[in-house]
Amino acid sequence: PFNLRNRHFLRLMDFSPTEIQFLLTLSAELKKAKYSGTEQPRLRGKNIALIFEKTSTRTRCAFEVAAFDQGANVSYIGPSGSQIGHKESMKDTARVLGRMYDGIQYRGYGQELVETLANYSGVPVWNGLTNEFHPTQILADFLTMLEHGNGKRLNQMKLAYLGDARNNMGNSFVEGAALMGLDLRLVAPKQFWPDQALLDQAAEIAAKTGAKIHCTENINDGVKGVDFLYTDVWVSMGEPPQAWQQRIELMKPYQVNRQLLALTANRHVKFLHCLPAFHDDQTVVGKEMLQKYGMNGLEVSDEVFESEASIVFDQAENRMHTIKAVMVATLGD
Ligand code: CP
Ligand code: NVA
Repeated sequence: PFNLRNRHFLRLMDFSPTEIQFLLTLSAELKKAKYSGTEQPRLRGKNIALIFEKTSTRTRCAFEVAAFDQGANVSYIGPSGSQIGHKESMKDTARVLGRMYDGIQYRGYGQELVETLANYSGVPVWNGLTNEFHPTQILADFLTMLEHGNGKRLNQMKLAYLGDARNNMGNSFVEGAALMGLDLRLVAPKQFWPDQALLDQAAEIAAKTGAKIHCTENINDGVKGVDFLYTDVWVSMGEPPQAWQQRIELMKPYQVNRQLLALTANRHVKFLHCLPAFHDDQTVVGKEMLQKYGMNGLEVSDEVFESEASIVFDQAENRMHTIKAVMVATLGD
């Protein structure tokens, strides 16, 4: 019934609620097919370019494994080694890659770069994270929430997103919640609320879907009664490391820890994080923050990260199934 063939996926608002629901259903079907050994390759002979101007573990591996499972070939173009940006514009790169590849994934900086790729390549382009949006992540998050939601539909779910609500994840949740009718609370210091223009756009959609989207600095009100707690790093890729000091001071009260979980008053509340997460001192940044600020665990405590409430690795796995659905729907036979 839905034909998404040749469509780009640059942000969630590129798709309608029914199209997003279709992608989630297709993801669940592809996941089931993989585990039952009945998966049919629908991307055989397709060549896919994966441009990464920023680093990645999940997104890269998800695109590669999804492509392999479906019979496609990939080229990984990393943050260094290609001509992109240094010697060649995105507009020219798009016209070159469009002559060789059937689909292009882009992770990098400004949203305008992925838009340029889409406008000039002539093939489907998928946003694997920009400064502004991370749409494929939200698909994985929604699939995971449906799997752990005790039969609730997305428009019956309440989610509190804590921390940096202005980054690609915060922005993408605003779009995803508006489209799918969620009750979304962005619980963050005021200067880290999303742009008013995006909130206004979301409010228009929410009027039709029944979504509720609120920004608040009141942690207690924000998290009370929610089904899901979500957080992300306080400083994103591409931001200056000097940002940490101010962020830590402002965001500290918004750390997802045991006390914050208790404030939800929901024993069944689940914890989500797109990953990578700073939850201990086992990373370069995590170690430095422990030394400098005495914090072992930043946006989430190790205790919550490792708890029964945490479903972060189901989320990580679902990146692959949902990205596969996006490629199959936009490029598949
Ligand atoms: N969540 C996510 O996008 O992870 P990577 O940065 O490892 O791709
Ligand atoms: N906001 C984070 C998300 C990483 C998946 C970043 O952009 O670094």
